[in-house]
This record gives sequence, structure tokens and C-alpha cells, in this order.
Amino acid sequence: MQSRAHNLLEARKLHRRAAGPILPDAFAFDTDLKMPPCFTLTNVQKTYGPTNDDSVRPALSIDNLEIASGQTTAILGYSGSGKSTLLNVLSLLDQTDDNGGDITYRDQSYRSIRHNERAQNRLRGNEYGFVFQDNHLLEHFSAARNVAMGLAIKGVPLSECDRRAKVFLAEVGIESKAKSLPSELSGGEKQRVAVMRAIAHEPQVVFADEPTGNLDWDTGLAVMERLARWQKESGHTLIIVSHNIHQVIDFSDRFVMLKDGEIIFKGVHQSHAEEKLQDEVVVETADRLTDVLRIHSKVHPLESTAP
Ligand SMILES: Nc1ncnc2c1ncn2[C@@H]1O[C@H](COP(=O)(O)OP(=O)(O)OP(=O)(O)O)[C@@H](O)[C@H]1O
Ligand SMILES: [Mg+2]
Repeated sequence: MQSRAHNLLEARKLHRRAAGPILPDAFAFDTDLKMPPCFTLTNVQKTYGPTNDDSVRPALSIDNLEIASGQTTAILGYSGSGKSTLLNVLSLLDQTDDNGGDITYRDQSYRSIRHNERAQNRLRGNEYGFVFQDNHLLEHFSAARNVAMGLAIKGVPLSECDRRAKVFLAEVGIESKAKSLPSELSGGEKQRVAVMRAIAHEPQVVFADEPTGNLDWDTGLAVMERLARWQKESGHTLIIVSHNIHQVIDFSDRFVMLKDGEIIFKGVHQSHAEEKLQDEVVVETADRLTDVLRIHSKVHPLESTAP
């Protein structure tokens, strides 16, 4: 049987042949959240370097953005467009400018806890989970201890941490690697450990920054599928950064597309509200989003973005 990735690629080729390029005005996108926002951004600005120097452009500048709870939101855009910057300020890994607006997580204003390290740590440690492109596993800890990191921080006894970590590792087929150090794991194995670490402590929000960026297509798809399953089963919020539109499209409810730190497009394909997307629709949506990005950025022929 052909893999889903293979089917997607084949469907994409057929679609491109039949439809030709699609212009952005062919979109019918629904931007109404329908779900309560998990994050609300108001006049958010982030500048690297001095903020009083007019020649320094902010890396991120967002007037208004709501990110729905209980859904998967993909943050898309070419390299340097501000995707990681947005993820970092959302997840409290970094701060907005001194006068750079506010972000609210549920009822919690980030501005009100700007100098409250304890409150920030509580959110980062208890509410949030993280997956990074290069996994950021702790090199001196075993795979099991890495997975159990969040549980240990929450005060779960070590023996119980180890037991639960093994269950998580078994689920992704690497129970036998429980005692291995990250340096003894392959890239795909490390990323599976990183995903399980992000979800083991039952966070409310998982932030994933290019979680499949260093993986081959099929391994990347498996990682995406595990994250998406966590989101569906828990009903919590997944925010995923990617430049690979064709890989995230199938798993995302909403899209936010950035260019030069600003939002050039946000929405959700209307048919996503219906049953599982047909392969052709997935491919068409991915192609349309790719066209928007290409037209706005005036670079890269479409085929160069194919996985
Ligand atoms: N620590 C930093 N110091 C100075 N400039 C930075 C820093 N981090 C990012 N930038 C700049 O901010 C802009 C946005 O960077 P960011 O890392 O958010 O982009 P990105 O969309 O995640 O890119 P990529 O796809 O390559 O990861 C870029 O111009 C980048 O050079
Ligand atoms: Mg980045």
C-alpha cells in the first residue's frame, strides 16, 4: 500500500497539471474563530537591538491576532519572516519590546507578569510544552529522563517518572532506547523523545518550532501525526511553525502567514470544518497557500517548495 505522503505527492502533481496556477483571490477563507481564543495579541512588537533607532526594523509587528484554543494553528512563512520570534514571545521564551503591546493567555496578561519570573516559570513549566527543530534534549540525561523532565518538575516521584516515560517511549516504538543518551539516538528517535517530552506533563499548549525540519519526509510525517493526535485526544492547543506548507496543511485548522514580521494572511479553509479533507483538497489548499507566499515574496518558483 502506498504511504499517505506518496498519495499526497501524486495528487498534488495531478492537481497542478489539471488546474494550473491558482491566484490568491480564489480563496474563500473563514477568519471567525468560533472557539474562545487561547492567545490574544494586541499591538505586539519585538525588535532585536535598540528600539529607539529608527533604522532598526522590528522583527515582529502584529496589530491584532487571536489564536484559537483547542485547535492546531500553523505559523507559516519563508526563512526570516518572524515565525520563531512569534512563537518565542507567545511561549514566554522571549519578551516583546518594553512598549510592545500585550499578549494575553486566557485571562493572564503577559505585561502584568513581565517582571514576575515565578509566574512566567509556572506557565512555561506547567501549561506549556515545547518541541524544537534541533530537539534541545539534555545531553547528559537518558531518553527516559528527558521525556520525564516535565513530570519531575511537577513533583512526580522519580520511579513513577521512569515508569511513565517508558510507556511514552513504547508508544513511539523506542522503549528499548530508554536508557540511551541523546548522542546514541538517531535524529528521528531524538525528535520522538522531544515530542513525548513536550506532551508527557499534560500541557495546555504545545509550541513546536519546525519539529520536522531535520527529518526525512516520512519520519517528519510520523512526528506530525503524533503531535496532531495529542491535540485531537487532549482537545488542547497546538501551535506549529513550519516553512513546509505541504507537510502541515493536513494537520492544521488555521494558518497565520508572516512576511517581514507582519501577517500577510490568516484564516482557515472552509472545507476544513467538514469531514477529513480529501487528498485533492489538501493539495489544493497547500498549493494556494504556497502561491500566496510566493506572490507576496516574489521569490522561488513553486516547484522549489515541493517536499
Ligand atoms: N537573536 C537575534 N538577534 C538579532 N536578530 C535576530 C535574532 N533572532 C532573529 N533575528 C532576526 O529577526 C528576523 C526574524 O527571525 P526569525 O528567527 O523569527 O525568523 P524565522 O521565520 O523563524 O526564520 P527561519 O525559518 O529561518 O527559522 C530575522 O531577520 C532574523 O535575522
Ligand atoms: Mg525559525
